[in-house]
Amino acid sequence: MSLDVVIMAAGKGTRMKSSRPKVLHTLAGRPLLQHVLQMSAGLGAERLITITGHGAEAVEAEMRAALPDAPLAFVRQEPQLGTGHAVQQAVPELAESGSTLILNGDVPLVRAETARALIEACGGERLVLLTVLLADPSGYGRILRDASGERVLAIVEHKDATPEQRAIREGYTGMMAAPTAHLKRWLANLKNENAQKEYYLTDIVAMAEAEGVPVVATLASGETEVLGVNSPVQLADLERRFQQQQAEALMEAGVRLRDPARFDLRGALRCGRDVEIDVNCIFEGEVELGDEVRIGANCVIRNAKIAAGAVIHPFTHIDGEAAGVEIGEGALIGPFARLRPGARLGAQVHIGNFVEVKNSTLARGAKANHLAYLGDAVVGQRVNYGAGSITANYDGANKHRTTLGDDVHVGSNCVLVAPVTVGAGATIGGGSTITKDVPAGQLAVARGRQACLSNWTRPVKAAGKPAD
Ligand code: UD1
Ligand code: CA
Repeated sequence: MSLDVVIMAAGKGTRMKSSRPKVLHTLAGRPLLQHVLQMSAGLGAERLITITGHGAEAVEAEMRAALPDAPLAFVRQEPQLGTGHAVQQAVPELAESGSTLILNGDVPLVRAETARALIEACGGERLVLLTVLLADPSGYGRILRDASGERVLAIVEHKDATPEQRAIREGYTGMMAAPTAHLKRWLANLKNENAQKEYYLTDIVAMAEAEGVPVVATLASGETEVLGVNSPVQLADLERRFQQQQAEALMEAGVRLRDPARFDLRGALRCGRDVEIDVNCIFEGEVELGDEVRIGANCVIRNAKIAAGAVIHPFTHIDGEAAGVEIGEGALIGPFARLRPGARLGAQVHIGNFVEVKNSTLARGAKANHLAYLGDAVVGQRVNYGAGSITANYDGANKHRTTLGDDVHVGSNCVLVAPVTVGAGATIGGGSTITKDVPAGQLAVARGRQACLSNWTRPVKAAGKPAD
């Protein structure tokens, strides 16, 4: 049976007090609407139709870029005359029959299981409403039932409700599944004779009831998946709930998080056995941690693969961007290290404090322990790269490579002016500026010779001058 999904996302989001459209604000690093679309993309729908209005161009462009393979369609709603008016705009895009699932672009955490249950209960024949029991239902549409409580008669909006109706705690979540053919007819008959002078989608419930089309209200199992975002406070609340869910799933899989309340995952994290993660770490994009990897406190790690037994000490920043970062087995990184795109570190590599590595390959056992820069370099096994040494890889126009053979020893404070090659086993004296290739096994020293002057006296202050 044909399924269409309609996602309402035209609203302004006034309470966000932002120039960004509300549905583009991010939760766990992804726009709110993207969460809804990604969940919907797994439902097997013919089309995912998003109703846009405020910031429509930006919303459409971002979503097309984020979900290039999904059957996305966008329909503009201008002006915004209510939720019923919003869905009316999608009518030309809808199939003739089957079911239509209606979701909200600002309710990001609705689960696929819940969506599937609504679609199944609808079956192209029944109107199915997702409802929720609320301690404080103010603002929500209330579910009106008959005296037996079995039949759903209508939804009354908060602003139109009587005091007795306002006492009802069962609220409409804004999500429903409707038989498409009926939905089209009902939408055509909506009126805006109500407190807000809007076309209410919720008025179709009374129409269904009047026509004898069965109406089913399904209570949501949890609160988190039906919560919408209207303000920065609500956005932060949902972010925390989502992070807690992700943290719990990881811990259930055996990952040891020192404190799940101080853990942020904005992407996908795959972990082997016995992984330990200390507090205040942020994982972004795609990150893979092998068995027994340990991540110290306050690390930010994006698009990286870290092999078994590696230890990332506190305050390390790893950002693989598009090229990725790879860290070999048993490597020791940080504290205060920075690994950039294309850093590929072999097993047992050591990268210490204030060392930056970009687009460079370091073979097994290479070490750069203090205050150094390696860019566009190929570094052999067991190379020792001294404190303060750098590759001068950029001539102002182009990048050039530096190649260090196995067992090279680079002293402290050296400048390796690329392109340059240092043969295996060579040694570079501290403070050298190396502009020519160094043959294997040799010592290269390229600095001013030291002179010691015996007939020299330190200047003394001139008489009568005040001290600084
Ligand atoms: C709506 C429901 C209410 C429900 C509540 C749950 C109606 C009439 N009422 O109320 O029963 O309890 O959601 O949160 O449906 N939108 C558009 N175009 C419009 C108006 C709204 O795209 O012209 C979008 C908004 O961007 C938002 C969603 O529809 O994503 C809901 O709109 P909102 O104004 O929040 O509806 P409520 O009045 O809260
Ligand atoms: Ca709302």
